[in-house]
Amino acid sequence: KTSLSKKDVLSIADLSTQEINSILTLAAKLKREQKRGKARPLLRGKTLGMIFQKPSTRTRVSFEVGTYQLGGDAVYLSASDIQLSRGETIQDTAKTLSLYLDCIMARVYDHKDVQTLAEYASIPVINGLSDEFHPCQILADLLTIQEHKKKMKGLSLAWLGDGDNVCNDLLLGCAKTGISMTAACPKGYEPLEEVVKLAKSEGIKTGADIAITEDPAAAAKDADIVVTDTFVSIGKEGERATREATFLPKYQVSSDIMKLAKKDAIFMHCLPAKRGMEVTADVIDSRSSVVWQEAENRLHVQKALLCLLMKVAAV
Ligand code: CP
Ligand code: NVA
Repeated sequence: KTSLSKKDVLSIADLSTQEINSILTLAAKLKREQKRGKARPLLRGKTLGMIFQKPSTRTRVSFEVGTYQLGGDAVYLSASDIQLSRGETIQDTAKTLSLYLDCIMARVYDHKDVQTLAEYASIPVINGLSDEFHPCQILADLLTIQEHKKKMKGLSLAWLGDGDNVCNDLLLGCAKTGISMTAACPKGYEPLEEVVKLAKSEGIKTGADIAITEDPAAAAKDADIVVTDTFVSIGKEGERATREATFLPKYQVSSDIMKLAKKDAIFMHCLPAKRGMEVTADVIDSRSSVVWQEAENRLHVQKALLCLLMKVAAV
């Protein structure tokens, strides 16, 4: 039986390979049960608080619905509606919310905010995306990869575009599960240096090669999985013109890029996507695109994560 060793999940760095596998195994089980219509009220009597400093479609709805499906309740807390907006500290907010809730999910700008929240909350805290990390997305991506490729070790993944929050955690997720990952990013838009270092050292243990390049074609060559994300993450809207000029056309995932990858390569994107920017419509809307399954899997992995963090299930 496995439960998670850390109280919080703020990045994939907080999870061991074994813990990632446990989450994916439980997620797959909950997914099968949900498809069969079997109710699992594992979170009966539990309440999740969801703090959002940034907008969200998938994260908000999948956490809220996932909690309901497990018999629990979810409270949506827009950061602009609670006293945080009037200067109450994150520390005091964390202590107060810990008196009412059983778990907190927070989507923030500054990663330090979710770290502070976790430090001062007595209950588990999940990062629902910060400027630096997006662990829930990567768990969904790994489940999707496993479903399609029936394995993880030995696969090769190409990332094209911005070395952003999703890219940072994907490097760690791939390294920990034995997937080789090459991220092709323009100069100045590389993933965090300390993350690359950590991913490389984790990769040595699993046999995953982790590399950063400026060459999208080299990254895409013979890849099993091609992944991208928006060129303009939330909070970077002021840089839109510079970013588009830097990224286009070189870092766009087009059918020419997909032709360099393996014949059965899949295309992934965390969404929301801008067709004609980071990916062409003919790729994201093609048969090799698994973006909807990826979005659905957010629900299943987060249900598993909630159960394990609140210790109502073990694998
Ligand atoms: N992929 C993702 O996190 O989507 P939202 O921003 O809609 O939550
Ligand atoms: N990198 C994107 C991911 C959105 C889910 C952002 O931070 O806006």
